[in-house]
Amino acid sequence: MLNSTKTIQSLRGMKDIVGSESELFTYFIENASKIAQKYGFSYIETPLLEETALFKRSVGESSDIVNKEMYQFIDKGENDVCLRPEGTAGVVRHFVEKKLDRAGGTYKWYYYGPMFRYERPQKGRLREFHQFGCEVFGIANVYEDANIIMLIREILEYFDIGFTLKLNSLGCVLCMPQYKNNLVNHLNSFKSELCEDCNRRVDTNPIRVLDCKNEKCQTLLKDAPKITNSLCSSCNSDFEKLKEILDFNKINYEIDSNLVRGLDYYNKTAFEFVSNEIGAQSAIAGGGRYDRLVEFLGGKSTAGIGFAIGIERLLELVKIKKEEKEFLYIGVLDEISLNKAFEIAIKKRKTTKTYIEYTPRGFAKHFGIAQKLGCNIVALIGEKELENGIIYTKNLNTKEENNIILEDF
Ligand code: HAM
Repeated sequence: MLNSTKTIQSLRGMKDIVGSESELFTYFIENASKIAQKYGFSYIETPLLEETALFKRSVGESSDIVNKEMYQFIDKGENDVCLRPEGTAGVVRHFVEKKLDRAGGTYKWYYYGPMFRYERPQKGRLREFHQFGCEVFGIANVYEDANIIMLIREILEYFDIGFTLKLNSLGCVLCMPQYKNNLVNHLNSFKSELCEDCNRRVDTNPIRVLDCKNEKCQTLLKDAPKITNSLCSSCNSDFEKLKEILDFNKINYEIDSNLVRGLDYYNKTAFEFVSNEIGAQSAIAGGGRYDRLVEFLGGKSTAGIGFAIGIERLLELVKIKKEEKEFLYIGVLDEISLNKAFEIAIKKRKTTKTYIEYTPRGFAKHFGIAQKLGCNIVALIGEKELENGIIYTKNLNTKEENNIILEDF
């Protein structure tokens, strides 16, 4: 029997999205979706819960995400499942499950929703967070890499967010293994001086040593070989071409040969968009090419590329553009005007976000409620206005007041 009266809190690293944050959240989703649609993406929603094997085979068993951060459990049917830590794997699972790899052609999907990682919560790092992502299948051309980068740039610019684009190439199955060998040989000469995590990574996932945040590791790494100097001719020419397209289209970037990403499925282009305005967790978006992922999940070799934006991190930087935020408040000054007010609200709602207050009140009371609700235009009607066929309006931002003929309103 439940007899505790202790209040229940949301779990650590998880939070409700409500009030001004939820307003920003929906504002972001609406506009980012429109931009993705303009680039030819259509919406996909995949389950939050998937077989654990999906993430082991895609994100990678040696990644921190799979190793330490999964919300994994055995369900009532004895299935090993986990809450998705990211969105790409589920979309690729769908692609292979529906045999689209064999059908051929190109596919572009966007998605948004919660992701779960059992990380140590801090500013900008949650255990349940939200991503907005896009995935492309069937396009190996490096112009698509540039297209994806431009799509992210358009989203960030729409919300007036400043960023630095960090770019790297992670090579391919031809050049990466050789590079890894060189790197391990180099790291082995001072392995014992590396932090505990990196010591382990030298054997399990050596390139992850490169983006270790530990200062001592970073100092030790200053003479480490760079992947960008070891690319095979195909990877090198794609990387050079990508830089050329970005230069031509005036997109600034920094080459960061230590950018390896925390998920194991990438090859060739890898990138991150960072902001210097949100503290230590500065990556607002990340992504890259994953031309082998479809194969890892049992499909036929198909090129893939995508990205995800961290919505909570981004929302810290988003302000709703004033002119877009029209919210109308309709109030009555007496009971007999309610019928008319109700009719007006129905009409206005077709084009404008509208709230109607049913209880008759004086002007000041109405202004107070409208303010609390975040409305910027107040329209009030009473017996006198009804008789004269007008409605009183006040813009709460500019304080401008008017009596408008009802038909014109
Ligand atoms: P990711 O870099 O792991 O990539 O995550 C993308 C973004 O999600 C990050 O840049 C960050 O803004 C946000 N993020 C990650 N972890 C957290 C957290 N614990 N709290 C708050 N925000 C977080 C991926 O997930 C790939 N699936 C992206 C991708 C799509 N690559 C190709 N297609």
